[in-house]
Amino acid sequence: MSRIVLGVAGGIAAYKACELLRRLLAEGHEVRVVPTESALTFVGEATWAALSGQPVHTGVWADAHEVPHVRLGQQADLVLVAPATADLIARAATGRADDLLTNVLLTAHCPVVLAPAMHTEMWRHAATRANVAILRQRGVMVVDPDSGRLTGPDSGPGRLPEPAELAAIASTVLAEPEVAVRGAAQDLAGLSVVVSAGGTREHLDPVRFLGNSSSGLTGWALARAARLRGAEVRLVAANVDRPAPAGVPVQAVTSTADLAVAMTEAAATADLVVMAAAPADFTPAAASDTKIKKSGSGGLELDLVQTTDVLAALVAARTDPRQVLVGFAAETPAAGVDLLELGRAKLARKGCDLLVLNAVGHGLVFGQPTSEITVLSAVGAEGPVAGTKDRLAHVIWDATLRARSAR
Ligand code: CTP
Repeated sequence: MSRIVLGVAGGIAAYKACELLRRLLAEGHEVRVVPTESALTFVGEATWAALSGQPVHTGVWADAHEVPHVRLGQQADLVLVAPATADLIARAATGRADDLLTNVLLTAHCPVVLAPAMHTEMWRHAATRANVAILRQRGVMVVDPDSGRLTGPDSGPGRLPEPAELAAIASTVLAEPEVAVRGAAQDLAGLSVVVSAGGTREHLDPVRFLGNSSSGLTGWALARAARLRGAEVRLVAANVDRPAPAGVPVQAVTSTADLAVAMTEAAATADLVVMAAAPADFTPAAASDTKIKKSGSGGLELDLVQTTDVLAALVAARTDPRQVLVGFAAETPAAGVDLLELGRAKLARKGCDLLVLNAVGHGLVFGQPTSEITVLSAVGAEGPVAGTKDRLAHVIWDATLRARSAR
């Protein structure tokens, strides 16, 4: 169990913080909610107190004998402010201590994550940009807002990311505080990243296909992690049915052939490319235009041909010598099989810079929130490292950045 201070500033997105609070509590954390005075205009004190089961104050004078303005920050494992308004960000950047939340921010020893939400003009304003830059320099992880419908008829960047996304960020930072340092440093800023995710489908006829069990979770975690670290991220997703990570456009594809086209186009201008998708290796030589019918009691023979090896094609098409290409090798463990050896052979065969090796199979990896990976490069192996896919995504980006700086 971790101690979290959930700061809530006065914006309409405060209602989403109720759902975030529920999620953090469901994960077993102790959460103290510290709203600002204006946050209570949107969601009242009784709601926060009832949901969290903890007292709720906005000022520094309540329960003064417990010195909450110092203790809450000192004892927290994570301070998460969602939504963080332009005003809260400005007060934090200038070191104001005019309510309980800003006092907590000044006394916290733990990672601090701010999730801004405001109108696009306010987010893009030079004053807010400067304040965010100051906070990031001081090690605060500021999550870029999502784009979409804002209050009223406007849309643009400024939406609070979905509570599930924020809860995932909180869990990752609690498990690995170093992630907040990477997020604050924005060490992927200025880099264009493309990630493929999911599993392709090869249609036999209009209703049936050959597919695989890839859930897209790893690709999603990679995209989310790269975005948090400041990269411009695109996802090419094969048959993944989940909401896009905040700030990441998703291009949907179906087959390995579609994936090859989309990835070739996207990779042409990308600095870092990760092939986390599980493309089908075989496709019907000719798909039927109509539903295949049973004929008597006989079976069905399928004539399959190999698909394009997308990763190998991307390696062959690479024109930017600094571009880093990362592949995955999902292998099934078996007696007498040396997975590391298989991985090394695959790295050499594909010609990519890094190969992320993981063991898959019944109940392993596909659809699971955790995994265990070893990152192979021409110079050696890092791992095995185990953890949530969100946490491992950061390990993969660390290795990818190292590979880029070694060029
Ligand atoms: N890959 C690809 N195009 C394919 C098949 C795989 O780009 N048609 C990529 C995957 O996205 C992954 C890497 O290649 O990054 C390794 O995938 P894997 O299925 O392990 O390798 P295969 O080349 O299919 O070899 P195997 O015979 O072991 O299945």
